[in-house]
Amino acid sequence: MNSSGPSRTYISDISPSVAAIIPSATLEVDARAKALRAAGEPVVEFGGGEPDFPTPDFIVEAAAAACREVSNHRYSPTAGLPDLREAIAAKTLRDSSLEISPSQVVVTNGGKHAVYNAFRTLLSTGDEVLLPAPYWTSYPEIIRLCGAVPVEIPTSTKSMYRLSVEQLEAAWTPQTKALVFVSPSNPTGAVYPPDEVEAIGNWAASRGVWVLADEIYEHLVYDGNEHRSIAKAAPAVAERCVILNGVAKTYAMTGWRVGWIVAPEPFVKAATNLQSHQTSNVCNVAQRAAQAAITGPLDVFAEMLLQFDRRRRSLHRMISEIEGVDCPLPQGAFYAFPSVEGVLGREIAGRHPETSLELAELLLSEAKVAVVPGEAFGAPGCVRLSFALSSAQIVEGMSRVAELLG
Ligand SMILES: Cc1ncc(COP(=O)(O)O)c(C=O)c1O
Repeated sequence: MNSSGPSRTYISDISPSVAAIIPSATLEVDARAKALRAAGEPVVEFGGGEPDFPTPDFIVEAAAAACREVSNHRYSPTAGLPDLREAIAAKTLRDSSLEISPSQVVVTNGGKHAVYNAFRTLLSTGDEVLLPAPYWTSYPEIIRLCGAVPVEIPTSTKSMYRLSVEQLEAAWTPQTKALVFVSPSNPTGAVYPPDEVEAIGNWAASRGVWVLADEIYEHLVYDGNEHRSIAKAAPAVAERCVILNGVAKTYAMTGWRVGWIVAPEPFVKAATNLQSHQTSNVCNVAQRAAQAAITGPLDVFAEMLLQFDRRRRSLHRMISEIEGVDCPLPQGAFYAFPSVEGVLGREIAGRHPETSLELAELLLSEAKVAVVPGEAFGAPGCVRLSFALSSAQIVEGMSRVAELLG
């Protein structure tokens, strides 16, 4: 770099696969909303993807104690602290009734890193990955970065955003390497009932397709729904199942960056080799905090769950009263994902938004309400609203939306 000359970016020198990455829309909406708020605008943010509660005290205390332990000031094993890997194995038995060994665990820098490393470990150029849409925004980008091809399978409000074995079979080709299975789902809040999980797992096993099961929202389920791990529901798929998980959503620990992969041992060895040349171990203090979280009492988040449930109902009630909006009641996670097709094309504040992207821009500029347009999730015509914000903010934000959309 020539510090005396004008600053120039040689865009053609950027690797084409990296140059093609579309930035995370959810983080972008978040950044724009925060910038507006910093400028004094009273923005209500339905865009974020993180609990608004502080991390519980006993977890913070464990981290503070870990800071003073000299062994935590040093490098540690790439795959994770042995105590934490053991705790993850015990937690997997407790929560998913799956017996695994600590050697089947690799601890990663958050769930997103688990997703990246799992795909990178599994995929080769030209592999096809079945991706139910709407999908979490990072999936297609990561799949493409691996040289593989995301094959979107659309779902809609009619099926409560759940796909069927028939759809999977229709999308299958000899190049199909893996299926992404996320239940509870970001962005839709859909939760697959146990019999559907079993059917999908058995289909994958029968086709020799790997399942990347993202279980990061496993504890956030409502209305008596049950999260069922696909490797438990369909034991035949367990040998080709990679579970992705982390502490971010359950324990309000998004900033701590601890996630993990659970997979067959040879897969974990390969993923650990990858990580050994990439990030090495995850921050030891954060690992100790994660260990405290998953070995601690499960009732710490019972109160959070109760509050999410109240907010979910109030958001759903208010949004359903708006003409032209069709919103299934979310069964899990902390997102509502309404179709806004019935609103598009109407006159709103002197404009006629034709897409959910334009509608989201209008909501932000006119009502100071931030939502994420469905385009970010492979679902134009929809928007995502998080209910990880206070009830008062939900009422304020939804009242403004209702007023604007009339
Ligand atoms: C489905 C899904 N998987 C993984 C992640 C990543 O979580 P983390 O914050 O641990 O990286 C997210 C975060 O939004 C998510 O929604």
